[in-house]
Amino acid sequence: MVYIGADYYPEHWERQRWSVDAELMQRAGIDVVRLAEFAWSKLEPEDGRYEFSWLDEAMSILDRKGIKVVLCTPTASPPAWLIQKHPDILPILRDGNRMSFGARRHYCITNKTYHYYSERIIRKLAEHYKNSSQVIGWQVDNEFGGPKCYCEGCRREFQRWLKSKYKSLDNLNRSWGNAFWSHDYTSWEQIPLPIVPSPNPAFDLDFRRFFSDMNLAYSNMQIRLLKSITPDKFVTHNFMGLFPHLNYYDLAKNYDFVSWDNYPQNLENRFRVALSHDVMRGLKKKNFWVMEQQCSYLTRQDITPTFSPGQMRLWTYHSFAHGAEAVVYFRWRACTFGIEQFHSGILQHDGTDRSISYKEATRISSEIHRIASQLEGSRLISPVAIIYDYDNIWANYAYQEKPMYDYPGEALRFYRAIKRLGINVDVVRPVDDLSKYRAVIAPLMYIVTEEAATNIRRYVEKGGTFIAGFRFGMKDENSNMVKTVLPGKLRDLFGIAIYAWDNLRERSVEVKDKEGESYQADTFADLITPEGAEIIAKYNSSWYSPYAAATVRSFGKGKAYYIGCGLSQGFYDKLMRKVLKGLEVEEIRCPDEVEIAIRQKEDKKLIFLMNFSDKSSEVSLSREYVDLITEKKLSGKVEVDPFGVMLLI
Ligand code: GAL
Ligand code: ZN
Repeated sequence: MVYIGADYYPEHWERQRWSVDAELMQRAGIDVVRLAEFAWSKLEPEDGRYEFSWLDEAMSILDRKGIKVVLCTPTASPPAWLIQKHPDILPILRDGNRMSFGARRHYCITNKTYHYYSERIIRKLAEHYKNSSQVIGWQVDNEFGGPKCYCEGCRREFQRWLKSKYKSLDNLNRSWGNAFWSHDYTSWEQIPLPIVPSPNPAFDLDFRRFFSDMNLAYSNMQIRLLKSITPDKFVTHNFMGLFPHLNYYDLAKNYDFVSWDNYPQNLENRFRVALSHDVMRGLKKKNFWVMEQQCSYLTRQDITPTFSPGQMRLWTYHSFAHGAEAVVYFRWRACTFGIEQFHSGILQHDGTDRSISYKEATRISSEIHRIASQLEGSRLISPVAIIYDYDNIWANYAYQEKPMYDYPGEALRFYRAIKRLGINVDVVRPVDDLSKYRAVIAPLMYIVTEEAATNIRRYVEKGGTFIAGFRFGMKDENSNMVKTVLPGKLRDLFGIAIYAWDNLRERSVEVKDKEGESYQADTFADLITPEGAEIIAKYNSSWYSPYAAATVRSFGKGKAYYIGCGLSQGFYDKLMRKVLKGLEVEEIRCPDEVEIAIRQKEDKKLIFLMNFSDKSSEVSLSREYVDLITEKKLSGKVEVDPFGVMLLI
């Protein structure tokens, strides 16, 4: 099923309004709503007293208009009575202060009392709605991930977690390198939480893994409970794209599918948003939902710009183009109160059908419903993959809250170049089966485990093209530096050695490729000594001059590239054009502002063309296509409207 939906909060409006909302939804073609997300205080106004009649009533009004429901477990916002009774549910922040009531996500993820109350409300809700065919599925909580809690309970949990991982203190001390600054522990109880601003990286990495695992445990508790009572309904969670603080592969595992909250904000973010979609699809190698899709301006620190007409539609197609099965807008109507009162909805505060977003939603849903059968069952097939790995994201944090380098930013250098060729990209783990990809790219892959090294080696031997970014293989699983010559375990694969490097944070140096083209190196420079590899680019600046900046080596039936520094975009464009030769969409030539993405059902391709500019764009088609949206035949030079979309078959 393909759905167009809205995040609806009937508890924010007078009851008399509900039928007006349902009527307007139906007219706009909204066929699913997400409900009860933060409604705990309305569902259980007092300890053990439940009030579901308001929700029943709202749902039956929606049901009469044929609108389905995704129900939420309301655990992202424990009510005031619960906090008053059990103040220890509130997390302790890193500064040692207890978070106070008054925002949301104010709970300690390991707190057993909280687990008890969460289970109780979830059980009640699930029992109450288990026979409702209107409820198609569940969303667990809202946007897991924060804040980290530093309470005594979490500290004890962390010690237990470490004990089960390391078994002995000797092992832990060695693995963490606790000889440094006299950090050796002689009892498990001595181990603190990483509150200091710059903890030992091994300690820091384990705490990140622990935090992720605790979220996982709480999420799995909810999934198990829901599945035991309502096995026929799907269970999902709204993820946050490139959010770095949870291992999303682990978190996604037990959900039926991933959903995510997509707030692109501005057009410049388009590649980052595209990559986010691909990360979300990569978590389960499966299509996903967008559970919150931006429909216009947002409240963040500030208020972001209002979408010009066409942008809501453009971003919606962009979601479908990357694998969305449903797009649910946040939110149905702008709220008149609360911290998000400056946040747009499909309807503005006035609730009339005159808003830009309402008109646009109406158009989108009529188009999408018309082409639904073509979308259903179609998937993205990608000949190239980017490795995206949470241990590596975390090992890149030198000081607690700040990563050293922009991990997705490094991926985006390659990603942009690939997307410009109109080629789909998958996002994978280092240990996934890589054999189906022409090329696999690994930006900022500090940690290369034995298993990953074997996997990559086998992939290249059998004919794959592997491309590593700078600092590849620098660290071990404990986030300690390796003792071998870099790039460590796979030195022979690349046929290079790295004995020297430099940080290019405040400056850039010139690099020239084999054809004499010049680029600027930035961010970091591995100074490469080839040992059998061919040089494809060299540094051309002071003492770097003897060294290579980028190399390639044939290995088995494949090739291994090493790109030792950050380089101007032209370098990646040229490299990817060469590596992916023959995979471009030959029949379509697009300017840069038009993105191509392809969904496919058997051999039938659906080609999305999306114009990310406010001017019309000329595209040239060297064969005849039909635009599914207008049902017109197209060939030769065609104009894509400002923010326009074409769906070619
Ligand atoms: C999301 C969140 C929503 C709402 C929205 C505002 O991250 O899930 O509840 O706060 O941001 O943009
Ligand atoms: Zn805690």
